[in-house]
Amino acid sequence: MKKLFQIVLVSSLSLLCFSCYYDELIDRPIDIPEIPDLPENVSFSTQVQPIFTTNCITCHTSSLNPDLRAGYSYNALVPDYVIAGDPLNSKLFQSLPGIGHPLNVGFELSDEDVAIIYAWIDQGAENN
Ligand code: HEC
Repeated sequence: MKKLFQIVLVSSLSLLCFSCYYDELIDRPIDIPEIPDLPENVSFSTQVQPIFTTNCITCHTSSLNPDLRAGYSYNALVPDYVIAGDPLNSKLFQSLPGIGHPLNVGFELSDEDVAIIYAWIDQGAENN
């Protein structure tokens, strides 16, 4: 029993040190979520845009960058907010509600929506 306690103690201590180390590696500390199964062949128009239309365009129209309305969003996002193939360093991903949106909007995107946006950027951020 004592041995078990020691094992638990040692592993939690090393986990703790490891997470501090990780914080230092990321220059802008964001709460990187666990990305569940990534969807394949994500479509910007039929999968990504509906997330913006449902959650973002009450605020993000022509007067607030990025303009996330259908028909404007792609040009507003790529390349200024999205580095194709590199979701974690893309400002769009870093700024999602629940991850690091600069303003508390009172909600978080679902894991599924986060995974769709992550996968779309990861797959090359195409206007598809
Ligand atoms: C309640 C209004 C509101 C909603 C809803 C909202 N945002 Fe924002 N967002 C803002 C405001 C205001 C800012 C600018 C805050 C600042 O710069 O201090 C901002 C900033 C951002 C930025 C950074 C812009 C920059 O140039 O630095 C991104 C990216 C962003 N929002 C994406 C989103 C996405 C994606 C959604 C939907 C999932 C969303 N926002 C929902 C109000 C909102």
